Formats: sequence, structure tokens, C-alpha cells
Amino acid sequence: MREIVEALEQKRALARLGGGEARIEAQHKRGKLTARERIEVLFDPDSFEEWDMFVEHRCIDFGMEKTQIPGDGVVTGYGTVNGRPVFVFSQDFTVFGGSLSEAHAEKICKIMDAAMKIGAPVVGLNDSGGARIQEGVASLGGYGDVFVRNVDASGVIPQISVIMGPCAGGAVYSPALTDFIFMVKDESYMFVTGPEVVKTVTHEEIDQEGLGGASIHTTTSGVADLAFDNDVEALLYVRRLLNFLPSSNRDLPPIRPSYDGIDRVEMSLDTLVPENPNVPYDMKELIHKVVDEGMFFETKPDYAGNIVTGFGRMNGQTVGIVANQPLVLAGCLDINASVKAARFVRFCDCFNIPIVTFVDVPGFLPGVNQEHSGIIRHGAKLLFAYTEASVPKITVITRKAYGGAYDVMGSKHMRADVNFAWPTAEVAVMGSKGAVEIIFRNEIGDPAKISEREASYKAKFANPFAAGRRGFIDDVIHPHSTRRRICKALTMLRNKQIELPKRKHPNEPL
Ligand code: HXC
Repeated sequence: MREIVEALEQKRALARLGGGEARIEAQHKRGKLTARERIEVLFDPDSFEEWDMFVEHRCIDFGMEKTQIPGDGVVTGYGTVNGRPVFVFSQDFTVFGGSLSEAHAEKICKIMDAAMKIGAPVVGLNDSGGARIQEGVASLGGYGDVFVRNVDASGVIPQISVIMGPCAGGAVYSPALTDFIFMVKDESYMFVTGPEVVKTVTHEEIDQEGLGGASIHTTTSGVADLAFDNDVEALLYVRRLLNFLPSSNRDLPPIRPSYDGIDRVEMSLDTLVPENPNVPYDMKELIHKVVDEGMFFETKPDYAGNIVTGFGRMNGQTVGIVANQPLVLAGCLDINASVKAARFVRFCDCFNIPIVTFVDVPGFLPGVNQEHSGIIRHGAKLLFAYTEASVPKITVITRKAYGGAYDVMGSKHMRADVNFAWPTAEVAVMGSKGAVEIIFRNEIGDPAKISEREASYKAKFANPFAAGRRGFIDDVIHPHSTRRRICKALTMLRNKQIELPKRKHPNEPL
């Protein structure tokens, strides 16, 4: 018996060694952790249970039958993050470059199926040279099987991808189907076709980092949410993100007891909005001052900064926050901001996370480029997302809420539940100057008359009361009481239920 047990230990030790000492050292030299070391950082201590450690590939071409490494380049299983179960696959670059074989794909599919059954998130740690070249079409089939599971799991369990090495070709589409993508700076890249192919086809010269590194995808393409300096930081942020989320769409997000009283007032908010409506202020100051303990987990902070999205807690309950940012493009909605916020709102709605919206929006961004690139189609995504979201929706207008953007940004008309306005709110078709120059175009030559008209338009519309008179906002609140008013509304809305029309699925403007 002892020999059998020893043999088991030897087999396990061999599997744990992956591609061997030399390749592990090479991985470390690049500043990367190994697949198993990453899992250790991700999970609560000693909670990881590994599955399929002895799986091997079945390839008999190109001499592959002579090279068998137990586990076949991916470590899979489950563990806990702050006590809640989470499934993981962690690709092992030391084994055939982490490339995906048929057997490797089967391991990933197995943990995804289990995660769906019990209702637990899946975290994918990607570090792979792509399809196992020696296996050809079998490996492509494996990718297909993973894609199908990504799609089926969408909106059912949270899926988080961390890119910690190469991720190229069709392989990028598995992370792309998941809810959040984190990347590690200087060691990860994602592209559909690499620099060599790009050079051949378009004659553009660019390196891997410039084409698909972490900074490009978190600032320019919007493919990834956050970029981190190293593996450990990225994994600790995955833990932080998971803490905000329910395990599946069958659960509510976890409530974390808060020592931050819901009655806390923030007198400084009474002077946050500058007197001059053209002077910007930092909307993040408001967010930090109203959420529990000032803790805000921002998603896509470096992309489309004119809109801020992220998670916080209020009265211990997770909320998704969407806010126009007057500091960037005066808070206008452009294509990127619309798509960023639409996807965030959709995520919150899938996972029972109430949405709190802070509005200061002068409108959609004007411009030929915006129009020609489809601001109509993309802006409609945000309108669609807000309207369809059936989770509790609370909106606070701090200053401008002009035109179509007023409707879109969680207005009462988009079925928001509780709509507040600060006394500084201006709910109107447009700013006073623009409005007067259109209505009284024939008086433009008379500056005295125009400024008189402007003053009268301002008196009529540059306040929250015209909207208040129609019930479009439920109350005009003191800025300092914003936290208390939102917390009370969230408690009131806890059992909200609405029925949407029955249909296979809506045809949203993709
Ligand atoms: C089999 C692979 C592999 C692959 C790497 N290796 N990629 N083995 N299939 N796809 C092996 C290497 O042979 C090497 O083995 C080890 O992994 C480490 O690779 P290196 O090249 O030494 O590492 P590095 O210099 O860091 O370069 C990493 C790399 C490069 C940039 C990823 O290996 C590479 O270009 N690989 C091929 C990438 C590729 O074209 N993949 C197919 C993409 S198409 P030894 O034994 O020497 O250590 C695709 C389609 C998906 O993925 C479709 C989905 C629908």
C-alpha cells in the first residue's frame, strides 16, 4: 500500500513540475508566476482543489506521443475567494507554451460545466501560444467548445479573464466573451493577427506591445478593463472584484456589514458644483463621498473617461455606479462612453446589482467623426440597456441633463425607480445660450435683447423644478444628504420586481 501511495505522490510531483525546472525558471525570469503560483495568490489559503492533474493529450503526430506532460498545460479546479466557491483554469506556459489541445480544452469545459451547475464564477488565467499546432483541427474544435460555454454562461455566472502572457488569434475570443478582462503590463498581449501578418498585409510596422499590449487595450481599444504592474496585483484585484459580485444570477450580491452610517452627511457636497456652469468638477469626488467607506472599484478607468463606471457599496449592498464626468469632454456622451456604460449596465442587470446614476451631461458629442462612426447606433445601446434593466435604478442629476442624453441617463422615462435632483440641476432641451440663439435667431444682432432672453430661458429651465412639476424627478435634495437618500431608496427597492414583455430575446442595436 505504501508503495502505491508513494507512486501517487511521485505522479503528483511530476504533474506539479509542469514543463520542468528550466522552463519554470524562464517563466520567473520574465517576471511571471507559474500557473500554480497564480492559483495560490487567487484563492484563500489551502482552499484549492485540483481536478484532472493526470490528463494527457492524445496526439500521435509529429512525435508528440513521446512527449506527455500530465495536466497537458492547464491547471483546473476550484477554491474559495473570501469563503465563496470559484472555479479556475490557469494555463501553464511551461507545458507546450500553454497551447490548447483537445484534452486541455476538455479540462476547461469540465470546470465551466461544474460552475454552471452550482452557480459559481469562473476565472480564466490565460498564458498560451494558442491552438496546439500539432493537433490541428482537434484543437480548433476545443476552442469552439470553450466559446459555446462562455456564451451559455454569459449572464448566468460571472466570468473574469486575466491575460498574463500571449493570447493571440482566435484564442482572444474566449476572453472577449467574458465579463471582465484584466491584463498584466509588459508581459501580456492580445491580437487577432500578430505584427508579422499586419506588416505583410498592411505594411504597418508595430511590435506586440504596441499592437495589443495592456496599455493599448485599456486606453484605446477598450478591450480590457484594467492593467496591472504584475501577476500578484492583477490576481488580488480579481479577488476584490469578486467580493462585489453574486456567485450567479440566482443570488443577490453579498452584503458586507458597513461601519459607515447611512445617515452620514457630506457638507462639502453642497459646494461641489461650481457657480459657473461651464466650470468642470470631479464627479469621482461625489462618488467617493457617498459610497461606504469611500471605496470605489472603477472599471475601465483609462478608457472613455467622460463616463465613470464601477462598483461600490451603499449600506453594505453592492451598487453599480454610472456617472458623467464633467472633467473629460465636459461629460458629453460619445460613442466610446455610450458603449462602455451600456455594457456595464447590462452586466449589473444580469447579476441583480442596483444601478446608481449621477448625471451631468450636456448632450451627445457633436462631430462629423461621431456621426459617421455611428453615434446613433452606439448611443442607442445605452438607451436600450437602461430601459431594459429591471434592477433597482436610482438617478441623481447634479447639474446638466440636456436633450436626448437626459432621457438616456437613467431618467424616469427609462423606468428609473427613484429620481433625485440637486438644486443646481438644469433639466432642459439644451443650455440657455444655445436655446435662445435658435428660438430668437432674428434677434442675434441685438446682444442686450439676447441676454435678456437668455436670462428668462435660464429662469424657466435652468433648475430642477420644471421637471419636478411633472413628476419626472421625485424630489429635489440637499447635496449633503445624497448618501442617506440613496441608501433609503435602495432599502425600499430591495424587493422590486417588474415583468418585461415575453420574447426570445430583444434585438438590441449591436
Ligand atoms: C504547440 C507551442 C505553441 C503552439 C508555443 N509552443 N506555441 N507548441 N502549439 N501553438 C511551444 C514552443 O514550441 C516552445 O516549445 C514553447 O511552447 C515555448 O514557446 P517559445 O516560442 O519558446 O516561447 P516564446 O519565445 O515566449 O514565444 C511565445 C509565442 C510563440 C509568441 C507564443 O511560441 C509562438 O508564436 N507560438 C505560436 C503561436 C501561434 O501561431 N499559435 C497558433 C495561433 S492560431 P519548447 O519545447 O521549445 O519549449 C490560434 C487559433 C485559435 O490559436 C482558433 C480558435 C478558433
